[in-house]
Amino acid sequence: MPGVLLGEEFPNFEADTTSGRIKFHDFLGDSWGILFSHPKDFTPVCTTELARAAKLSNEFKKRGVKMIALSIDSVEDHNSWSKDVMAYANEADSPLPYPIIADDKRELSVLLGMLDPDERNKDGLPLTARCVFVIGPDKKLKLSILYPATTGRNFDEILRVIDSLQLTAQKKVATPVDWKPGEKVMVIPSLPDSEATALFPNGVTTKEMPSGKKYLRYTKI
Ligand code: BEZ
Repeated sequence: MPGVLLGEEFPNFEADTTSGRIKFHDFLGDSWGILFSHPKDFTPVCTTELARAAKLSNEFKKRGVKMIALSIDSVEDHNSWSKDVMAYANEADSPLPYPIIADDKRELSVLLGMLDPDERNKDGLPLTARCVFVIGPDKKLKLSILYPATTGRNFDEILRVIDSLQLTAQKKVATPVDWKPGEKVMVIPSLPDSEATALFPNGVTTKEMPSGKKYLRYTKI
């Protein structure tokens, strides 16, 4: 089954987009990237998602993340749909602040394992699922999330995950359940106590557990 696994290099595909032809790695440059796919242009849930992503484009920019969407229609359709999206976002006079890849031949959707066999168009062809790929500056896949066509994504969660990915790429920590930026983080299990004390000047606190094992170690970054 095609697709990309965590830690693998993301394919350096070429594609037509609403900003012209791109080679993906050149498009990313040294930045982080997010590629999010959509089942079809001019569909209701996709329109709400693209509009939300447009509203949050400065948040992605702040984090150094280049955005790109994908849908299995043509550049011409994408350009027309983009106007609807920006009107839905109450910003009808602004252009969509990120490009959309035209995958009308479904080549990328196959390469990246994005087709959803349960959702088909009127000709019986499968539509693209709602995939989220976050790619690091090293061009490796850091996160992939897959939603069916019938469930829209939560872009606040996507930003939260990016905050965690960027933090944990720099420091030997992991973020616990429901973590938000500024909250305590956990020291990764492979780091010995002696090194943890030296690495985290704000101190490390350990929660006592019935097992007596000292594996819940918190610190503040
Ligand atoms: C939508 O974006 O609304 C949608 C697209 C395909 C299947 C179901 C919903």
